[in-house]
Amino acid sequence: MIKVITYGTFDLLHRGHIRLLERARALGDYLVVGVTSDDYDKTRGKINVRQSLMERIEAVRATGLADEIIIEEYEGQKIDDIRRYEIDIFTVGSDWFGQFDYLNDYCKVIYLERTEGVSSSDIRAEQRKIRLGCVGAALLVDKFAHESKYVNGLEISDVSLRNDMDKQELERFLSASDAVYIASLPKYHYEHVKTALQADKHVLCESPMALSVAQYKELLEIAADRNCILMDSCKTAFSTAYARLLLLIKAGKIGDVFAVDATCTSIREMNEDTWNSICEWGPTAMLPVFDILGTAYLNKTIYTHFDEDGNDLFTKIDFCYPHAVASIKVGKGVKSEGELIVSGTKGYVYVPAPWWKTDYFEVRYENPADNKRYYYQLEGEGIRYELLAFKKTIENQKKNFCMAERNSEAFCKVIEDFYADKLIKI
Ligand code: CTP
Repeated sequence: MIKVITYGTFDLLHRGHIRLLERARALGDYLVVGVTSDDYDKTRGKINVRQSLMERIEAVRATGLADEIIIEEYEGQKIDDIRRYEIDIFTVGSDWFGQFDYLNDYCKVIYLERTEGVSSSDIRAEQRKIRLGCVGAALLVDKFAHESKYVNGLEISDVSLRNDMDKQELERFLSASDAVYIASLPKYHYEHVKTALQADKHVLCESPMALSVAQYKELLEIAADRNCILMDSCKTAFSTAYARLLLLIKAGKIGDVFAVDATCTSIREMNEDTWNSICEWGPTAMLPVFDILGTAYLNKTIYTHFDEDGNDLFTKIDFCYPHAVASIKVGKGVKSEGELIVSGTKGYVYVPAPWWKTDYFEVRYENPADNKRYYYQLEGEGIRYELLAFKKTIENQKKNFCMAERNSEAFCKVIEDFYADKLIKI
């Protein structure tokens, strides 16, 4: 019996896939089809896959062409599979020509002509595109505009590097967009978000979304009335490593959490046309605190150093919870090690600098032999995943759970207290 194997994502199964499977089957007597897992696809940079693994497997099964379906989960698995299933022929479409020649050491490799004129990417892109306008700081807007290219179904309709558009200007700017990414100066966020929502645009806004809780709640209400998505933009929340780290902590890997310490600093120029330290770094540093310990802290103390021009060079905030404490250090005029440490009764999580765009972390224990290292792919600093989540949230009209509203509100509360001078000057 000649056994054949082939692999693919098989998203939105189309005639190209079916023709490939038919010809693969005709090469032998028994066909094994490897369908890629979501995690594996993500590590290969394939982030736009529409259907779940189970839906894709079901679609392949329904063709009746596969004798056996397996899941492809890791790099190098093909060699394992060829040995395990005693495969005679490995086959794949000609778009991979030459790339699997190394498998000739294990079985015969055959590249089949790819069917012209159809692909999962094309089908995904054909579905109505969401037109995204981007407005605000060049550093952020440029990154978002660039990263949007990797998100099927999202296209940049307009870009403005102006920070201070008034209502009419912004309305005009938004006329050709369905959604907007706002990275203007934080003092304009509330007005800009409100204008966009009132023009029925979905909004992705850099944190903090407003400078007070009352303003934030008003924005939420407008968004709900208008049936628009309002999402806080904090890229770290969308990175795989960060999401997995939270899961491990919640699953008890380090026992009960007693402390969260996060530091985010940089040395950058500050003036009235730039972000201050607390707005630029505060939300990112607070994210793990609120994700892990919640937002119902008992009290907090804010220590800030202002220079003679009134710039907040450095801030340390201590949060006290009923059974834990947390501390964040942020600054644009002080440099420190940008690490994240979460301390628990069994061990601790250590995320090296810069932890907010990490692809790696360690869980460490008393006995170093028990330590574990975790590595996850991170593309485009997490912005790509964030844009994808924003697009999916708009399409599904369901709240996104990576960025909880309670976190956004808690960010605004801290910023509000900061501006109300509820702090200790150092
Ligand atoms: N394939 C094909 N003809 C097509 C599309 C895909 O022969 N028009 C083959 C691929 O070469 C591969 C298998 O089908 O052997 C699974 O491909 P997959 O990557 O899942 O499909 P694509 O349509 O290429 O997906 P994407 O656009 O996401 O890359």
